[in-house]
Order: sequence, then C-alpha cells, then structure tokens
Amino acid sequence: MDKYISSTSQQYFAFNIWSIESAKAVIDAASQMKCNIILQTSMKAFEQIDKKEFYAFVRSYEQKKGIKAYLHLDHCKEMDFIQEAAECGWDSVMIDASDKTLSENINITNKVVKLVRKKGILVEAEVGQICGQEDEVTSVGTGIAKMDDIEKFIKSTDIDMLAAAVGTVHGLYRGVPDIRYDMLDEIGRITDIPLVIHGGTGLTNEILLKMLIYKNVKKINISTDVKLAYKRGIEESIQMGVMEQNGFDPLKVEWFIHDEIQNMVMNKLKLLRKDSLR
Ligand code: 13P
Repeated sequence: MDKYISSTSQQYFAFNIWSIESAKAVIDAASQMKCNIILQTSMKAFEQIDKKEFYAFVRSYEQKKGIKAYLHLDHCKEMDFIQEAAECGWDSVMIDASDKTLSENINITNKVVKLVRKKGILVEAEVGQICGQEDEVTSVGTGIAKMDDIEKFIKSTDIDMLAAAVGTVHGLYRGVPDIRYDMLDEIGRITDIPLVIHGGTGLTNEILLKMLIYKNVKKINISTDVKLAYKRGIEESIQMGVMEQNGFDPLKVEWFIHDEIQNMVMNKLKLLRKDSLR
C-alpha cells in the first residue's frame, strides 16, 4: 500500500477535531475544495471519542463526499494510546518524546515504529521542542531544534514524518512568528523525509505559502484555529438571536459552528492550489 504521505505525495493541511460534528465540517470543506485531508485527534480527544463510531463515520462520510480523510493521532506520549490507535484503524500516529534526551527520544520512537510498522501505520516524531500548548501537552523548550540532533535522529530512526522545531509555536503567537526558513531548506538537503509544521494557527497566508514552496513540507497542523472558528459560530448564534429563550434552535447553532469551521478550513485549503497567490 502506498504511504499517504511521502516525499512524492501531495502537501496537506491537518486539522485537529474532537467530535463527529467537527470532523464533518472539515470533511465538508475538503470535499468542496476537492482535496484530501488529515483529521487529527489530540490524546485528550482520542480518549474521549467513541473510536469505533468515529472511525465508521469518517470512513463512510469521506466516501460519500468523494475524498480521503486520513486519521492521525497527534502529540502522543503513551504507548497504550498508540497501540489503540493502530487497532482502531488510525492511519498515522505521532510519538512525541521531544521532552526526553535525544537518545531516549530515538529509543522510544524506534519502539513505536516497531509496534505499528507491520500494520502499515505511518509514524511522525518530534525533534527539538515546539513551544506552546496543544491540548494537554505543554512545552517550554527553545523552540528551535539543533541541526546535529535532526541529522542524528533521522539516521537512527525509520520515521515517515519529521516534526522539527523551526520556530513555530502551538496556540497564538506573541509578536511576529520567527520562522527558520533556512532550516526547512537545510533539512530538505539532508533528507527526503516529509516535514511537518506544527503551530499553523496565527501564520499569515503569506507565511503559509512561503512554507509550502519547500517541497519537503508535506503537512501543516492547525488546531487553535478550529477551536476559534467553533467559538465564532457560538458568538454569531448569540448575535443572530438564535440563542434567545423562546426561539432557541440548537440546529441553527450547530450550522453556524459548522459554517465557521468549514469556511476557515476552505481558506487554508485554497493555499494548496497551484493557482493560489504563489
Ligand atoms: P496550532 O494550535 O497553533 O494551530 O497548532 C496545531 C498543532 O501543531 C497540532 O499539533
């Protein structure tokens, strides 16, 4: 079976979701844009959703909508969750042992590769700590990986995707993002392993397009923006009066939320089009 992400695959945006409804909004956007998509569950979301029901929904809805929606476990620190994701049909997992020493990170990552490789599940791993907070995972490292560490890590592991800390941050940015484009270039020279950019929220279209020029950048993660779109949907419902006691209409509230998420996702996916601003 071909890997869905490889050095020759398309470039993707990956969106963090937490429910069937949020997944539906993302798939609807991808279907509108006629493009495949990655749905990510944080450990917290993975723990809470009914995995069988969620998996069945995604597999039938992607088919109905004529696209592929790959399932990815984001920032996982627990072997049990990785095992469970593999058993439940997730397409890829991220082992995040970036808070450990480099050699511990290598050992843990190798264990994960061994555990899931036979099932054809792809493995993403992190080198250097990407700062900020992603659900329950918080990191306060330097935010920039050392090139030597990256080189050693990729030589000592057999990962399918590399999340290297290149200056992006999880959550909202304080000030202007200081992205190390030179590292995107340098990493591309030493390996053809697909590169994953975390902390996509708060990066302008210009920055995102600039990153997408690097052909080794294959996955850009967006989480906070999905939550913010959800919040806007609720705020809009209040403004439009659909939360009024007498006229309270939960379906309308859900549609406001759906549309906010769908529009945000579509705006990101437009950047993948060859005829976009690039
Ligand atoms: P943001 O919340 O900054 O979009 O980061 C998402 C992410 O990198 C998920 O792993």
